[in-house]
Amino acid sequence: MSYEPRGYATDTEGHKVPLHGPEAFEGLRRAGRLASGTLDFITAHVTPGVTTGALDKLIETFMRDHGAIPATIGYKGYRHASCISPNHVVNHGIPSDDKRLADGDIVNIDVTVILDGWYGDNSRMYFVGEKIGVKARKLVDLTYEAMMAGIAAARPGNTLGDVGHAIQTLAEANRFSVVREFGGHGIGRIFHDAPHVDHFGRPGQGMTLVPGMVFTIEPMLNAGKPDVKILSDGWTTVTRDRSLSAQFEHQVGITEDGCEIFTLSPAGHTKPPY
Ligand code: MF3
Ligand code: CO
Ligand code: CO
Repeated sequence: MSYEPRGYATDTEGHKVPLHGPEAFEGLRRAGRLASGTLDFITAHVTPGVTTGALDKLIETFMRDHGAIPATIGYKGYRHASCISPNHVVNHGIPSDDKRLADGDIVNIDVTVILDGWYGDNSRMYFVGEKIGVKARKLVDLTYEAMMAGIAAARPGNTLGDVGHAIQTLAEANRFSVVREFGGHGIGRIFHDAPHVDHFGRPGQGMTLVPGMVFTIEPMLNAGKPDVKILSDGWTTVTRDRSLSAQFEHQVGITEDGCEIFTLSPAGHTKPPY
């Protein structure tokens, strides 16, 4: 079982960026569909009173039942099949049997599968119950639209700076801030590969996109200031001002005339309410 990309590009830091061919795209399509299918499956369980630990167990079972390995288990010492990040948690929230979701919470669930050696990485926001505040709804909506604006800019001839600029412009026009400490990433048969994908930037700057590149676009937007801190567990990232934060993630492959989203929801889910 050996796989070689059909070639490489180089990012602005000199890292090799694999250029994938049709067989890779087919493997990534299947992995992406399973990741988004996992997020579809968990939707009905995201209700007031459920623990994030219980959600994680359901997610792990679903992945294994579908022939996949949860990519995050054992990754840099992480022990769970998902990251579950409510409210002011920016990303990498650790599932816990002690953490109960409440009516009015907004929550990101991020899952990554390995299927036949190919990685599929996808996250989306959920509304818990009915009592979602106006600001929270707007933040979630804008974060989805910002991700989609970035995806619309992901095409051959454009640069990563164009992608980041599209996201940042929409976010800041609506007075939300963009988290700088985390970005999207190349992905294929490796979880986190080159290039690094900033969710801010300047038009025309950064690596020029060419067909065969595969990476995630996963902006985190805050309702308050952009600053974050990592808690003493070494994973959980929160907003320093405890303002709400939202994130969506898709995994895309650059094609001849744009990009293919590998992680579209089989159920047709985009942004909440679902
Ligand atoms: N899925 C996350 C991403 O989008 C990575 C999670 S790594 C973990 O890149 F160890 F925190 F699970
Ligand atoms: Co990712
Ligand atoms: Co992810």
